[in-house]
Amino acid sequence: MHPSIFDLATSHSKSPEVPLQTTLRLPFFARDVVDLNRSTDLLEISERLGKGARFILGGGSNLVVRSSPESPLPATVIRNRLAGIVRLSSEQPEVRIRCAAGESWHSFVMWTLSQGLAGLENLALIPGTVGAAPIQNIGAYGVEVADRIDTVHAWDFEKQDHVTFSSKDCGFSYRWSRFKDADQQGPWDMPRFLITGVDFRLWQAGHAPVVAHYAGVRERVESMGHTVDDGDGLTAHRIAHAVMSLRREKLPDPDELPNAGSFFQNPEVPNAFAQSLKAKHPAAPVFASGTASKLSAGWLIDQCGLRGFRVGDAGVSERHALVLVNHGGANAHDLLEVARTIQREVMRRFGVWLEPEPILVPPMQAY
Ligand code: EPU
Repeated sequence: MHPSIFDLATSHSKSPEVPLQTTLRLPFFARDVVDLNRSTDLLEISERLGKGARFILGGGSNLVVRSSPESPLPATVIRNRLAGIVRLSSEQPEVRIRCAAGESWHSFVMWTLSQGLAGLENLALIPGTVGAAPIQNIGAYGVEVADRIDTVHAWDFEKQDHVTFSSKDCGFSYRWSRFKDADQQGPWDMPRFLITGVDFRLWQAGHAPVVAHYAGVRERVESMGHTVDDGDGLTAHRIAHAVMSLRREKLPDPDELPNAGSFFQNPEVPNAFAQSLKAKHPAAPVFASGTASKLSAGWLIDQCGLRGFRVGDAGVSERHALVLVNHGGANAHDLLEVARTIQREVMRRFGVWLEPEPILVPPMQAY
């Protein structure tokens, strides 16, 4: 415990009374909580926490926490509430925007569109914060956030200083970055870097690359009575609306049915394996990318008949087999039981091991 931490300018409170939130809405209790409102408080927080366990919380949209009032997460949770958006440069048609890590991702995407900026429209409606976006390199409908990031700003707890990473230094790949890599980021309760803000490289509307090849996007724009390239500068808005309507149709809304988005990554397998799967199951979605192929985890789970499967109040969404949901009173134990059943069944039926996408804290050996 660090009693002196109560002196901090940023608010600090002791759990379990403090309600912590993840979008899965599993019970979440922690030893204590610091609300980080100003990046200038980080030195003080860092010095006061010293070697004490810490855990950084953004929007909680990619997180499964195992905790209870009797057994709170043994760490100080730093709730990242850093806010603010600034335009850094407008070397037309490119525009660089800096956004603080605690801002809501979707609100930020909507703000860029309201400013006549394009580049993030395919990533509309993804839950979570701007600071969480680079950690797992969020991606949807043919765009990954790595494609739009210029620089990531972070606090380095080891150096006790602010640092920056170029996009290249972030080590981005499919749902991955250096901030997920334990060798670079440290253990779950001693993360080295806290992301404070992100600089994006966007475009004035009408100058951005149009990404509308993903199944359903172009068709949805057309069904709204437009073509993607009407030449009136509204393409980004149209794609955002198409993406939002596709997401609302396919994925459960975390505000209505708590969930953490895709619960498993789409597995990458050797091309030969994918071809033999395709020979046995011609309907299986297979996306070849060079030497490897990506399979659809949602399809594999669906084929196992697990859509709607439940353990207690934890279950597989009826709408999309890749999404696990909390029907009300689920706990982490039930949810992990659902996840393990899926992993075992998909392995037994198809010989493929599904890797979870959300981060589990505290981690477990087998997950
Ligand atoms: N499918 C089924 N049954 C299901 C669900 C999907 O057969 O219950 C099939 C679909 O018919 C389709 C294929 O699986 O042929 C792929 O489904 P979808 O287009 O919904 O995309 P996904 O691969 O399941 C990925 C991302 C999503 C992202 C969408 C759109 C991952 C792990 N997930 O899902 O990201 O929104 O593509 O780009 O890469 C997230 O990360 O939380 C997330 C929602």
